[in-house]
Amino acid sequence: MNRVVAILGASQGIGAALVDHFAQMEDTTVLALSRNLDKMKGRFLQKNVFCHHLDISKDVHKQIAALGLAAPIDILINNAGLLVNKPFEQLSHQDFTESYQVNIIGIMEATQALLPQLAPKAHIVNISSMGGFQGSLKFAGLAAYSTSKAALCAFTELFAEEYKDSSLRMNCLCLGAVQTEMLSAAFPGYLAPTSPAQMAQFIADFALNSGAFFNGKIIPVSSSNP
Ligand SMILES: NC(=O)c1ccc[n+]([C@@H]2O[C@H](COP(=O)([O-])OP(=O)(O)OC[C@H]3O[C@@H](n4cnc5c(N)ncnc54)[C@H](OP(=O)(O)O)[C@@H]3O)[C@@H](O)[C@H]2O)c1
Repeated sequence: MNRVVAILGASQGIGAALVDHFAQMEDTTVLALSRNLDKMKGRFLQKNVFCHHLDISKDVHKQIAALGLAAPIDILINNAGLLVNKPFEQLSHQDFTESYQVNIIGIMEATQALLPQLAPKAHIVNISSMGGFQGSLKFAGLAAYSTSKAALCAFTELFAEEYKDSSLRMNCLCLGAVQTEMLSAAFPGYLAPTSPAQMAQFIADFALNSGAFFNGKIIPVSSSNP
């Protein structure tokens, strides 16, 4: 079986670990999509990984059309994300719009643009956060980030409803803390219990095996609080 996996937000952290993980699998082609093309090309030397520049903060449809992706995509992991950590009163209009553009609008637009490329039974996995999961412990400073991640959860339910008569599946994983560049920048000194490679293994297993059993589900993935 020839499987195509597209990972949005692939240059570092969990996304890069996902590329590493899928690249080891037989008969698997990985499309790595991010802004930092040089970083991806320097890291992903495997022959089955194809790196493309994509910035989901602007002109997403135009950029994806220009990529000319021909292969049907079996798994799409919407992992790109932006975290702004600032006291609520200091959050600027730009902080709000950038957070929403990357964490929800860009993801929805990328999903729209990639729809024609999705294989029958394709599984779309959105990467949200425990901060966007209703009833979870919340953290000061994350109003722009966590509300945009909550919107990603809502999108998952809405997409699943709208496409329920198709074979497409979309689910959302709300991650707890993972030791990545994003976490270190936002919470210096905090040590997460999970590495990017460990989380990538979980996400990959879920993406490969759970599309037949889950649709429109918002799943907390956390062994700790947060
Ligand atoms: N780490 C955690 O504790 C944690 C917890 C909960 C949820 N999450 C979520 O998990 C996902 C991955 O997080 P991470 O910790 O691995 O973060 P990270 O190290 O900052 O990586 C984020 C990725 O998103 C890409 N990205 C950011 N802006 C983009 C844009 N405009 N267009 C395209 N790609 C963009 C970045 O690539 P470029 O800069 O090359 O574009 C990078 O590859 C995010 O959605 C995050 O919200 C993380």
